[in-house]
Amino acid sequence: MSIKTLSLRTLLFLGLCQTCRRSLASELRDQPKKIAVVGAGIGGSATAYFLRKEFGAAVKIDVFEPETVGGRLATVKIGEQEYETGGSVIHPLNLHMKHFIDNLGINQRESVPSKMAIFDGKELTFEESDWFIVNMLRMLWRYGFNFLRMQMWVEGVLDKFMRIYQYQQFGYSFSTVEKLLHAMGGDGFLMLANQTLEEAMLREGFSQVFLNDIVAPITRVNYGQSVRINGFVGAVSLAGADSGLWSVDGGNRLVCSGLLYHSKAELIPARVTSISVKVRPSKLGTTTNFYEVNYVGESGPAHSLYDIVIVATPLHQGKSDISFPGFSPPIPSHYPGRYHQTVSTLVYGQLNVSYLGAHQTPAHFTVSEVLTTDSEGCALHSLSSVDPVSIPPGYQRPPASQPKVWKIFSPQPLSEEQLAAIFLSWDPAASETRWLAYPAYRPPHRRTPPFVLHERLYYLNAVEWAASAMEMSAIAARNAALLAHHHWHGLAGKVDQEDLHVRIRGEL
Ligand SMILES: Cc1cc2nc3c(=O)[nH]c(=O)nc-3n(C[C@H](O)[C@H](O)[C@H](O)COP(=O)(O)OP(=O)(O)OC[C@H]3O[C@@H](n4cnc5c(N)ncnc54)[C@H](O)[C@@H]3O)c2cc1C
Ligand SMILES: *[C@@H]1O[C@H](CO)[C@@H](O)[C@H](O)[C@H]1NC(C)=O
Ligand SMILES: *[C@@H]1O[C@H](CO)[C@@H](O)[C@H](O)[C@H]1NC(C)=O
Repeated sequence: MSIKTLSLRTLLFLGLCQTCRRSLASELRDQPKKIAVVGAGIGGSATAYFLRKEFGAAVKIDVFEPETVGGRLATVKIGEQEYETGGSVIHPLNLHMKHFIDNLGINQRESVPSKMAIFDGKELTFEESDWFIVNMLRMLWRYGFNFLRMQMWVEGVLDKFMRIYQYQQFGYSFSTVEKLLHAMGGDGFLMLANQTLEEAMLREGFSQVFLNDIVAPITRVNYGQSVRINGFVGAVSLAGADSGLWSVDGGNRLVCSGLLYHSKAELIPARVTSISVKVRPSKLGTTTNFYEVNYVGESGPAHSLYDIVIVATPLHQGKSDISFPGFSPPIPSHYPGRYHQTVSTLVYGQLNVSYLGAHQTPAHFTVSEVLTTDSEGCALHSLSSVDPVSIPPGYQRPPASQPKVWKIFSPQPLSEEQLAAIFLSWDPAASETRWLAYPAYRPPHRRTPPFVLHERLYYLNAVEWAASAMEMSAIAARNAALLAHHHWHGLAGKVDQEDLHVRIRGEL
C-alpha cells in the first residue's frame, strides 16, 4: 500500500515535471500564432510570402491595406489597354523579383526595343543611334572614357550589392540599414550612402560635364532629383539605365496580389491607425508582450492582438498616420525627412516634335525615352512613349506621327499650356497621379530609421533612405521575416554578423 502510494506520488511528480518541462520548452519553441503586416505594396506582400516560409503553415498572417493592393505599383486604363503609372522597370539582376515571378508563374512582358534621347529644354543634345558602335563613338568623342568607366563603376557597386542574396540564403539578417549596407560593401557603401552622387563621382574622377549631360538626366528620370541624391541610390539609378530591364506581363502589381495569394494571408481592407504594446501574463507566471493593432475598415473601428507586427508603409508625412502610444523609447508617427513629389501624367496624344527641337519628320522620330538635363527651361523630368502592360501579338510602337500614349514625369502637375506646347492634339481625359514617390534625398544625413522599432515590431521602409526600388522593398521584406524568426527563436548568431562575405566563403 505505502509503496503503491509512493510510486504513485513519484509518478505524479515525474509526470508533473514532464509537463512543466514540456510547457517550458514549448513556451520557447512555440510558433507565433498571429502576425500582422501593415500595407500591401510589394514590401508588405513580399513580407507575407517570406513570413509564411519562415514560420510555416499554422501561423495566421493578416495584411492590412485600405487602398489597392500594389501601392506604388499601379496601372491606369487608357483606351483598351493598361499602363504603368508608378514603379515600372526591374533590373535583370533583381533576384527576388525574378524569383517571385518564376514562383508565381507570371511572365516577363515582351520587350520592345527603345531609343533614348536627352533634351535640354531647347533641343536634343544626345540621341541614341540604332547602332551600338555609333553610340560608343559619340560618347567617346564627347566624354572620353567617362561613359565606359561609369559602367565599370556601377558594375563594381552591383557586385557587392549581390552579396545580400547569399547572406539571406544563409539566413543572415540585419537590424539597421547601415548594418545591411556595411555587410554588402563595407565602409565604402556607408560613405557612398552618406555623400552625394556628385561628390562620389567627382572623387572617382568623372567630369562635371559628364555629370550634367548624362548622369543628371538619369537621376531625374528615375528619382525626379538631381545628382545631389546619395551615391548609393545614385548607383541604383545608373544601374536602371542598363540594358535588359524588364517589367511584368499584365502589370507589376500582379506580383503583389500573387504573393498575397501564395502566402495564404488574409487581406483586411482597413487602415491601421495605431499600434500599441499590451502586456499579458503567460502560462509560466511571467509576462508576454502582444501588439494591439487598431484599424478602421468598412464596418468601423476594430482591433486585434498579434505576436509580431511588420510595418510596410513609409512612416512619413503624407504617407501614413499611424501612432504608437505607450512605447518607451517613443516611436514617432513620422520620421524626419520628406517624400519627393513626382507627378506621373499619361496622355494619349500626338507629339509636337518641334517642341523637342527634333530635326526628323514625325514619321521618322522613333525616340521612345526623352530624358532631360537639370536646366532652367526643363519643367519635365522625362517624356516617354509607353507600351501597354501586355504586348499584343504583332505590336509595333507607332512613330511620333501617330497619336499614342506618352508618360510624363514632372515635379508639378502639368498645365493646359504645357500640354499644348508638347502635343499637337491630345485626349483631354489624361490620367494624372501625384505620387509622393520616394524620399527627397539630402545627404549627408542623420541616422536612417531602424528596421526594429520594438522587440517584435519591424519597419521595412527604412530601406528606402538607402534607395527606393521594388527590389529594395523585397530585400527588406526577406530581412524582416528573418529578423522576426531569429528574434522569436532566440537565434542571435544570425543577426548583425560582421565580415559575412569572408565567413560565408568558409561555410560553403
Ligand atoms: C512614379 C514612380 C516610379 C518608380 N519607378 C520605379 C522603377 O522603375 N523601378 C523600381 O524598382 N521602383 C520604382 N519606383 C519605386 C517603387 O515603386 C517603390 O520603391 C516600391 O513600390 C515601394 O513599395 P512598398 O511596398 O515598400 O511601399 P508602397 O507601395 O507605398 O506600399 C505601402 C502600402 O501601405 C498602404 N498603407 C499606407 N498607410 C497604411 C495604413 N495606415 N494602414 C494600412 N496600410 C497602409 C498604402 O496604401 C500602400 O499600398 C517608382 C516609384 C514611383 C512613385
Ligand atoms: C510646335 O512647337 C513649336 C516649337 O515650340 C511651335 O513653334 C509650334 O507652334 C508648335 N506647333 C503647334 C501646331 O502647336
Ligand atoms: C554622415 O556624414 C556626416 C558629416 O558629413 C556625419 O556627421 C554623420 O555622422 C555621417 N553619418 C553616417 C551614418 O555615417
